[in-house]
Amino acid sequence: MCLSLSYTKSGLTASMYSGLLLLSMWALAGTASLWDSESCPERLVGAEGRRTCPRSCKSDRDCGGKRQCLCDSECGLSCVVPGRTCPWPLSLNENSRARLLSPTPSFSALLEVLCTPGFTLADGSDATVRRCQGDRQWSGDKPICTGGSEFFSLCHVFLLFSCRADIVGRQENFCQFNQTWLYPHPNCKEMLCQPPEEVEQGYVVAVQKTEYEVGFDIHYLCKKNFLLDGPQKITCLSNGSWSAAPPHCRARCIIPAERSRVVIGGVKRWPFDVTDGLVPHGENVTFFCKHPQKQCSFTAAQTCFDGKLETPLCYLEPTWLQYKLFPHRLVSEIEVCEPGDVE
Ligand SMILES: *[C@@H]1O[C@H](CO)[C@@H](O)[C@H](O)[C@H]1NC(C)=O
Ligand SMILES: *[C@@H]1O[C@H](CO)[C@@H](O)[C@H](O)[C@H]1NC(C)=O
Ligand SMILES: *[C@@H]1O[C@H](CO)[C@@H](O)[C@H](O)[C@H]1NC(C)=O
Repeated sequence: MCLSLSYTKSGLTASMYSGLLLLSMWALAGTASLWDSESCPERLVGAEGRRTCPRSCKSDRDCGGKRQCLCDSECGLSCVVPGRTCPWPLSLNENSRARLLSPTPSFSALLEVLCTPGFTLADGSDATVRRCQGDRQWSGDKPICTGGSEFFSLCHVFLLFSCRADIVGRQENFCQFNQTWLYPHPNCKEMLCQPPEEVEQGYVVAVQKTEYEVGFDIHYLCKKNFLLDGPQKITCLSNGSWSAAPPHCRARCIIPAERSRVVIGGVKRWPFDVTDGLVPHGENVTFFCKHPQKQCSFTAAQTCFDGKLETPLCYLEPTWLQYKLFPHRLVSEIEVCEPGDVE
């Protein structure tokens, strides 16, 4: 096992597990201490071609000076100087890091090379163990960690897997050396949407349910004289949320003037000439106000919002007498002030 994945609600986290790997590699590589002179294998045919084997021996007597007859893996029993060290620290590329597993980098010391997450060695593993040989070199080829190998892409595809909802199945998986997953893939629990808030003065054009499945659309209509403000349709998303908040159905506004003309939709008209004396939500109504000093009028607009439309502060409703006796002197009927007259 090389890579463990943890599933979370928001996604996945990956962490490298080198412990097991290390154990197995340890067993493969062996150490001098595991081999005494009796159990050390014979020098392997061809070992000399791959590395420099020190002189063969059967006991310390065969070796001179500080050399001792020790087991040097595939070279078999060889004359080595136990105190001599292998290169340390190692210069590795940025995709890997090395860790000494023994107190000193001397003969038979172990060194672990770990690839940074997302990178792998040629064999698909993400770590390897090297042994300090009698020729003062670390065993094996120089490990090169590369990214985007078939092995990693397999794991990577899975890394993209995430549940917006709860996960059904094991929340952790392990990518094995043979590129298979230890456990079956987990599944995302199907999410349902809760009924959305009710829309006042509106209708839902859908079967009312206690829960709605993903992809379900709810269409809205407003009652007569109410204007739809917001989406006409909302959809249940895969995370159990609605695509938008439900719309509002906005009421029309009473024009708060009787004895003055106002401008609605670019047309100057008497409020009683407007159907029902009402304007739709969002409509602008322009009122005429009198200049404080001069005998002229200026305009001030107000917008109808959900049944609320107030006159501007400057607007003064004419009295019934003014309206009846001097209709041509009403503020809405007198001359409009020159642009310079209005501050
Ligand atoms: C992969 O390795 C695991 C564990 O060693 C084993 O159980 C499984 O059968 C292997 N699968 C394939 C397809 O080789
Ligand atoms: C659900 O998904 C939508 C769109 O991806 C996102 O805007 C919304 O915030 C998500 N809601 C939750 C509760 O995660
Ligand atoms: C009302 O006036 C505002 C601000 O000038 C403008 O953005 C809006 O489009 C107008 N509404 C209508 C219905 O003309």
